[in-house]
Amino acid sequence: MTFNLFDTEERVLDEARLLRGRLADADPAVRDGVEALIGAYERGYREQRRLVRVSDRLQEQLATVNQELANRRREAEDALKRLEEAQETLVQSEKLASLGALVAGVAHEVNTPVGIALSCASHLSDATDRLRRSVEAGGPGRQEFRRYLETAGDTADLILANCRRAAELIQGFKQVAVDRVSAERRRFDLRSYLQEVLLSLQPRLRQAGHAVRVECPEGLKVDGDPGALSQIVTNLTLNSLLHAYGEGDRGTIAITVDRPSPDMVRLVHRDDGRGIAPECLPHVFDPFFTTRRGSGGTGLGLHIAYNLATGPLGGRLSLDSTPGQGTAVTLVFSETAPGGADGEVSA
Ligand SMILES: Nc1ncnc2c1ncn2[C@@H]1O[C@H](COP(=O)(O)OP(=O)(O)OP(=O)(O)O)[C@@H](O)[C@H]1O
Ligand SMILES: [Mg+2]
Repeated sequence: MTFNLFDTEERVLDEARLLRGRLADADPAVRDGVEALIGAYERGYREQRRLVRVSDRLQEQLATVNQELANRRREAEDALKRLEEAQETLVQSEKLASLGALVAGVAHEVNTPVGIALSCASHLSDATDRLRRSVEAGGPGRQEFRRYLETAGDTADLILANCRRAAELIQGFKQVAVDRVSAERRRFDLRSYLQEVLLSLQPRLRQAGHAVRVECPEGLKVDGDPGALSQIVTNLTLNSLLHAYGEGDRGTIAITVDRPSPDMVRLVHRDDGRGIAPECLPHVFDPFFTTRRGSGGTGLGLHIAYNLATGPLGGRLSLDSTPGQGTAVTLVFSETAPGGADGEVSA
């Protein structure tokens, strides 16, 4: 059974037309009146049908638009998912790249004490050979023997000191490198940790001729993810190296730590380089924003630092810069990272 939306109207019209037929002999004025009424009703009826057709068409269009919107939304969601995956991959590869730089730094830094120890050992071996020959030839004189003992004592001290230094360096780097790849929470001394991180950057800093100063209260312990902190400080220092200074400039990078309130730590990383142009400032934390595309910049350093500061450290990162006067990045975070020191206990 089909439903006619205009059943009533059509019936009324039919009846009106019948009435008009029956009025053939009536007063012409009445006839004209009825005629005019029927005409008006017919026009209204036609208009009504037209409106319903328009409304049907609009509804169809609306359905198409809705469908289109749903498709677009799905596409946008897919794109976002792909972007997030790409970002994750980039963050991982950035981590690996900075680990590569770290390893190069280790090799360079450990080379010095190992080199000294090696040449001392070879010197000692030569002196021992000489003494042995002298023993075989009838025994060394008192003076020669004393000289040998002096040499042996000095070189052994040097070998020991340098091997100890190499061991310390390796220990420090090992910790920084492990922290860099595995996000693990532990309690660490902020001052010595910062020094270890900067040690891994020493070769590049020294090569460029910049000075680095760390001012941090002694005994300040942080309970959190040291890898995140090391990555932030590394990225900021590399930025100063890459962007703040020109060829031949001698700059000073200062890392100052204080406590703005009892449980909070504030770390300010400041360079006295060329600063950042005002039009670039609002974009420095955007992913892929770099003024060095094609010459070593991917524009991820500050973005990653920001994510680490607000994510694992549960803090804030902000940047201030005036052209010609350098750049200061401030990291404020809690002494105890989110999750709580007694995370395992409360969990
Ligand atoms: N200390 C600084 N002095 C001057 N400009 C800076 C400094 N730090 C950052 N910038 C500016 O901010 C931009 C973004 O920095 P970011 O660390 O995110 O990327 P990048 O250093 O260019 O590349 P990446 O860190 O991925 O290698 C830089 O390209 C540079 O223009
Ligand atoms: Mg950078």
